[in-house]
Amino acid sequence: MEHVLWNIGHDLIIEDIVRAQGSYLYDSDDRRYIDFESGVWCTPLGHSHPVINQTVKAQLDRISHTGYCYAHPATKEAAKEILNVTGLPGGKCVFLSSGSEAVEFGVQVLRKLAGKPLLLTLVDSFLGSYGSASKKKADEWHLLDWSLCSTCSQPEQCSPQCRVFLDIPFAKIGGFVFEPGNSSGQVRFPPEAFIKHLVEITRCNGGFVQANEITTGIGRTGEWFGFQHYDIQPDIISMGKGLGNGYPVSSIAMSPEIIGKLQQISFYYSQSHINDPLGCSAARAVIAVINQEKLIERSKKLGKKILNELTEICRHYNFVREVRGRGLMIAIEFLPAHDINPAALVYRELLNRGFIIARRPGLNILRVDPPLNVDENDIKGFLDNFNQVLKGIE
Ligand SMILES: Cc1ncc(COP(=O)(O)O)c(C=O)c1O
Repeated sequence: MEHVLWNIGHDLIIEDIVRAQGSYLYDSDDRRYIDFESGVWCTPLGHSHPVINQTVKAQLDRISHTGYCYAHPATKEAAKEILNVTGLPGGKCVFLSSGSEAVEFGVQVLRKLAGKPLLLTLVDSFLGSYGSASKKKADEWHLLDWSLCSTCSQPEQCSPQCRVFLDIPFAKIGGFVFEPGNSSGQVRFPPEAFIKHLVEITRCNGGFVQANEITTGIGRTGEWFGFQHYDIQPDIISMGKGLGNGYPVSSIAMSPEIIGKLQQISFYYSQSHINDPLGCSAARAVIAVINQEKLIERSKKLGKKILNELTEICRHYNFVREVRGRGLMIAIEFLPAHDINPAALVYRELLNRGFIIARRPGLNILRVDPPLNVDENDIKGFLDNFNQVLKGIE
């Protein structure tokens, strides 16, 4: 890998993963690793899913790319499915390649439509790696610190008179970009009433709501999308990662109202691979498999079971601060112990035992995000090994 500039901020840990099937990755010595990170949240159906692979191969042989002025039916079909699962029938979709593009597209639409200087987002939301959404400059964004809400003793009695809301310059805000639960890898879920107030006040002031579902979408949290835990309907929904189950496709679903307004103004956004049929065929197949195999319900049920079992294991160890999660998006937060970092130790020891879970440098957090169709025996094996590793550290 000497000629590859590796992901900055991430160590290269295994250099030779040569194939993958379902939840399993194999290195060149045929050593097996169980992938409880689903790539980077990108393979909700596991690696090399036969239906997705066959669909993509068949589409590749038909046509992968059309061009700005020519369409293939796969794009129309995928859009219909996405509008169905997002609750935006009658709206329209755009397809791009990465999550960052899908968020930035929505942000550009919000800015153009609202014509106000600021957008609102929670201070710890991650909105992608390029454009206005990644920079979050002070003259473009109001970043809302909601740390008081995470420790609030009465979140269900949340009131817009609370001081958390008082400093928000709603009159200058054209949109709220809500990321329902990733919080830059920390897996924090803002309270429902708090988010509903933000949505309502933003709309009362003429703004729109965009959900960033790049990580929380496609069944990860036990619903199709993370916003569905909040009893709200966003105007714009950005999704990526799991949408292609490993093929890089992302999408932006927009309500009929947004589309109507966009058609009255000049809004220009174009990229070479916009609305390509290859990515769309993957997206459509992913949605179909999730529906056929009832994987949303499975994510909800299995997630609760894993969360309960992890909580039970962790309550015996005083170096674990908290276990939290929604669906199959689960985090274990550790307390720093003396001069050791338990998250790093647990990660390394699990890897030696053949389990990959997510760890981001600088955070005392490990994440468990298995595929939605993960084998329950693999879950059991993971929980047993996790418990043994914590015991060893103690
Ligand atoms: C919440 C969230 N939004 C946006 C992105 C950017 O997606 P991508 O890396 O596909 O550009 C990520 C990536 O991890 C993410 O976690």
